[in-house]
Amino acid sequence: MSSKLRVGVIGVGGIAANQHLPGWASLPDVEVVALADVAAERLDTVGDKFGIKERFTDYKDMVGLDLDVVDVCTPNRVHTPAVTAALSAGKHVICEKPLAVTTDEVRSMGELADAGGLKLMTAQHMRYTPAAQAVKKWIDAGGLGDVYHARVHAMRSNLIPIAPGFLNRKLSGGGPCMDIGVHALDLSLWLMGYPTPARVTGTSKTNFAKGTSIPGGWGEWDRDLVSVEDFAAGFVRFNNGATLVLETSWLGHQKEKEDMSCQLFGLDGGVKWPSAEFTEVTNGVLSQGSLTNPMAGPKPHHAELADFATCVRENLPSPVPWTETIRVIAILEAIYQSQESGREVAVRASDFPKLERKS
Ligand SMILES: NC(=O)c1ccc[n+]([C@@H]2O[C@H](COP(=O)([O-])OP(=O)(O)OC[C@H]3O[C@@H](n4cnc5c(N)ncnc54)[C@H](O)[C@@H]3O)[C@@H](O)[C@H]2O)c1
Repeated sequence: MSSKLRVGVIGVGGIAANQHLPGWASLPDVEVVALADVAAERLDTVGDKFGIKERFTDYKDMVGLDLDVVDVCTPNRVHTPAVTAALSAGKHVICEKPLAVTTDEVRSMGELADAGGLKLMTAQHMRYTPAAQAVKKWIDAGGLGDVYHARVHAMRSNLIPIAPGFLNRKLSGGGPCMDIGVHALDLSLWLMGYPTPARVTGTSKTNFAKGTSIPGGWGEWDRDLVSVEDFAAGFVRFNNGATLVLETSWLGHQKEKEDMSCQLFGLDGGVKWPSAEFTEVTNGVLSQGSLTNPMAGPKPHHAELADFATCVRENLPSPVPWTETIRVIAILEAIYQSQESGREVAVRASDFPKLERKS
């Protein structure tokens, strides 16, 4: 490996230009040397802005270059082909969430990475928020004890993304489940120690996104393109007896613009993210507190990229391995299946690979 890690980015839209490219640029031992995007004008605008000369309108022409890492930031349904092409070319891959919208795709990419001895990470930047880090540390020190229930919210009142890549199921694979529910769910499962889901009951609905009754906070969108839910909810039972409720929406009647949060209930304590408030019993008294300074720290997207760069350089386990991601996607997949069938869906534990333990 050359002294600097050589990175190529596929898809240079919003998340790449606003977070990943500045994030990579903040790392002294990394250089982004190539970009790929089907939109040639966008490719030039972003390439000029970040001073990256190698540009490709077909990512297949980029993945064969002398690169160590490929960073995939395309719409969701392009993740699997782009990640597969990069892994097949022998590159380590970090990919935006959701890694894929079906468990079959997650598994096929994960097995390909494992077979090639390559790192594959899902970009779950919320794990790197200072509040999440503080809560995780508190939990790992035994603050919660066994967790028996989680309440998980990724609820927005009128923040519906307006890009076709989010609204059209052929590009996104789903609505708020795949856009923001995936964030809150991954974070909660990570805090819970990644229990294995066993049964899921769910609902998903398109209540407002095809109409005009709730105005969008991010501008107008093409209602005819909408083929995904704008609300979903799920009730999950895990193999270890714990349960979880997930609620996610882009549009709905609630006071908060966005409620992105989780609350965990354990036998020894309780905790909330992102407020980092906790409860416990001290000397026989139910007490409450707040973890100190949970909002300070490096930018989460930058910290996530730095962690991946370290894992590649030092041959460490992936910080967000596919073996965890497949459990998230299994739950979201089951919510959609449950909506279709009107019944509880069994998630077969035997289908899941073992979790990688990091230490
Ligand atoms: N982690 C986060 O906070 C966060 C935030 C926003 C988006 N995302 C994720 O990032 C991904 C991209 O979202 P975005 O908001 O940047 O979308 P976007 O629409 O702004 O950008 C996507 C880019 O991919 C390009 N593209 C589409 N098909 C392509 C292909 N076949 N080959 C190469 N490029 C292609 C588009 O031209 C566009 O420039 C999505 O998976 C989304 O879920 C994550």
